[in-house]
Amino acid sequence: MTWSPASWRQHPMTQIPVYPDVAALGRVEQRLAAAAPLTTIADILHLKAQLAQVSAGRAFLLQGGDCAESFAEFGADKVRTTFNLLLQMGAMLRAESGTEVVHLARIAGQFAKPRSSLSETIDGVTLPSYRGDAVNGPAFTAASRTPDPKRLLDAHRQAHVTIGLLNAYSAASYADLPKINAELGIDEVVRPVAMFTSHEALLLNYEEALTRYDESRETWWATSGHMIWLGDRTRQLDGAHVEFARGVANPVGLKCGPSLGADEMLRLMDRLDPDNEPGRLVLIGRFGARNVWKHLPELMRATRREGRNAIWSSDPMHGNTQTAGSLKTRMLADILAEIGAFFEVAAAEQVHAGGIHLEMTGADVTECLGGSLPLSEEDLPRRYLTHCDPRLNGAQALDVAEAVAKLLAKGARLASNAA
Ligand code: PEP
Ligand code: CO
Repeated sequence: MTWSPASWRQHPMTQIPVYPDVAALGRVEQRLAAAAPLTTIADILHLKAQLAQVSAGRAFLLQGGDCAESFAEFGADKVRTTFNLLLQMGAMLRAESGTEVVHLARIAGQFAKPRSSLSETIDGVTLPSYRGDAVNGPAFTAASRTPDPKRLLDAHRQAHVTIGLLNAYSAASYADLPKINAELGIDEVVRPVAMFTSHEALLLNYEEALTRYDESRETWWATSGHMIWLGDRTRQLDGAHVEFARGVANPVGLKCGPSLGADEMLRLMDRLDPDNEPGRLVLIGRFGARNVWKHLPELMRATRREGRNAIWSSDPMHGNTQTAGSLKTRMLADILAEIGAFFEVAAAEQVHAGGIHLEMTGADVTECLGGSLPLSEEDLPRRYLTHCDPRLNGAQALDVAEAVAKLLAKGARLASNAA
């Protein structure tokens, strides 16, 4: 069971692209291995310390961003909009509930998607599915859909620029927060907001090449982002993705969908977080509004019974996807219902409702339906821009933040009454 950055290669793997040009892949891996790390160990430790506060029930994790980042729609404005949206949502949560917020963007590495079907057929022509800009292109041609390892270098370059921009905006959040706070009536000493990065660790060739050894702590770190997570389709106990994630010391997320039982979850936790370290593991429930009560109580009961420090967070997006015409969409009412149920189950099981995980963009898209500026099915094609799943637009994300702020405030009131 010795771990190395490459030990995942000995395990069964799903969702890893097969590159026709193996030599080209090797050259790309070498270049990434020689590249500067995207994140610093100090920043990863900073995130871990903030997450330890969430684990102790003293803070709330706000995680959000695109379903899939794209090369074509990249620019400083886009990064800035995501940053500002998270900043504003965080300020709303703090204002209403008094809780500290951990800001974690789905950004700077979210370039690859697991797919339920590995091929797509249009008019009798079958080609590999689009799997995210780090793998292949969205255009329906054989050339574009062939996995190209050079895309990993483009993803790395974009992630690098993105992290630079986020750091600059973090430093400047001194300048923005007073205005946001004044609008929300928050009176606080303004500190710069640390904005951390996260993505699904799907492309293990990329992750392995960006893993670095820390001599002083005798630990390995994934330097592709501050936190990585394992998707619901790649969390097999003996699979390659779990093998990779268990050996790096970063905070790790684990998507928990309806097919995960309590025993399997505990075995995964033993493997991913054997020391039960506060701030190491985030369990991200994604069941669908109608299924939360069926699955979550048993899972939360198990983590509480076993005294686990893992954080519980709610992804109210991935269990609530439906199709309207030919487009995938999600109803704001379902998203709010899943979040509401998450808080209720957590209260009933005496577990800290520790966070939310959203697919959202600051842009004015028409991908999810409902909200205080209501969108209906006819609006969907107007600005349907996502490269994968439907995202909340800025207004809908603020609607969600407002609802979560109220739930957090209610929890805080109940706790102080009980004290
Ligand atoms: C995602 O977060 O984009 C995703 C694919 O989620 P899940 O693994 O939970 O389906
Ligand atoms: Co998604």
